[in-house]
Amino acid sequence: MSDKLNSQGVKDIIGVLTLKLGFIGLGMMGSSLAIRAVQSGYDVLGYNRTRSKVEGLRDRIEVVPAISDICDEADVILVSVTDDDADYEVTLGNHGISDYIRPNRVILDFSTITPMMSKLLNEKLKRKGVYRLEVPVLGGPQKAMRGELIAMVGGDRDKYEEMADLIRTFAYRTFYIGGIGDALFIKLALNLLIAGYAELLSEGLAMIKKQNIDPRLLLNVLNVSGYKTELSETKGPKMVSGNYEPTFYLKHMKKDLGLLQRVANEYSVYLPVSGALWSTYTGAVSMGLSDEDFSAVLEYLQKVNRISK
Ligand SMILES: NC(=O)c1ccc[n+]([C@@H]2O[C@H](COP(=O)([O-])OP(=O)(O)OC[C@H]3O[C@@H](n4cnc5c(N)ncnc54)[C@H](OP(=O)(O)O)[C@@H]3O)[C@@H](O)[C@H]2O)c1
Repeated sequence: MSDKLNSQGVKDIIGVLTLKLGFIGLGMMGSSLAIRAVQSGYDVLGYNRTRSKVEGLRDRIEVVPAISDICDEADVILVSVTDDDADYEVTLGNHGISDYIRPNRVILDFSTITPMMSKLLNEKLKRKGVYRLEVPVLGGPQKAMRGELIAMVGGDRDKYEEMADLIRTFAYRTFYIGGIGDALFIKLALNLLIAGYAELLSEGLAMIKKQNIDPRLLLNVLNVSGYKTELSETKGPKMVSGNYEPTFYLKHMKKDLGLLQRVANEYSVYLPVSGALWSTYTGAVSMGLSDEDFSAVLEYLQKVNRISK
């Protein structure tokens, strides 16, 4: 194990490509980030709680059985897990990162969690002399694989400067937002917007379908107007054809709306529409749409409104 990360900064000493990267969480995003890193020339290790789910990755990534292996071998640890509970477990839980990590190591955490949890994790890790940056991202697995994410970074600014080249491996735009927690506020605000857009587009499409009007006509008009979005252009046509192959699970959008509810409570912010969206996505989850793409909120509205496909 080298001591490549020291106070002088990795870039100046050896160049980031010689860093060994250890990924924790090889789900849809984590595996895409890891593959991107391999393709960019990094030495990569990966750990996933459920090993059987990552059998297919083993010809591309060295999969290790425990978080302790990642902590022993990696210079930088990159985390991408579901939510607050998952992040707590891999970071501070039994046999988690904090049990094994050495001082001066860096953690880049790509998970979408609450700012409150991010602050707690940082506080605990700081006592061990470990640097942790939150790096929530915009864009799904395909963009991760192409290095086309947008990254928002919260945490120590100097550490961010040191890690910026590595983060740019995954993100074509990187924004340093501020202290720990701040980047996650921005990320949650963006996901509120995306959840709302998918819901409102779906409500419009459902209404049109109920009149037996071809829903593609709405997309045709919308997508030449100033109100088009990447979602209406790329997911819209798939939605109207009933294709909800996931890039971002509906259950995770519900999760993010739940995080927003916790933030609203914690900071006494009135966010009425986020509550309504949380109810809709919760309804969709209860109807068995958890593992579909979040745009399957259209499917949910069609079922509720008894609209045939
Ligand atoms: N997909 C996207 O488009 C996208 C975009 C931006 C941000 N994100 C965020 O990125 C994170 C990962 O999302 P994803 O799409 O990759 O989800 P995913 O495919 O469901 O992967 C979730 C990962 O978290 C792990 N995990 C869950 N609970 C755990 C626990 N208690 N202990 C250890 N590991 C645990 C899972 O391990 P197992 O395999 O063992 O369950 C899996 O590796 C989420 O915070 C999500 O909101 C996703």
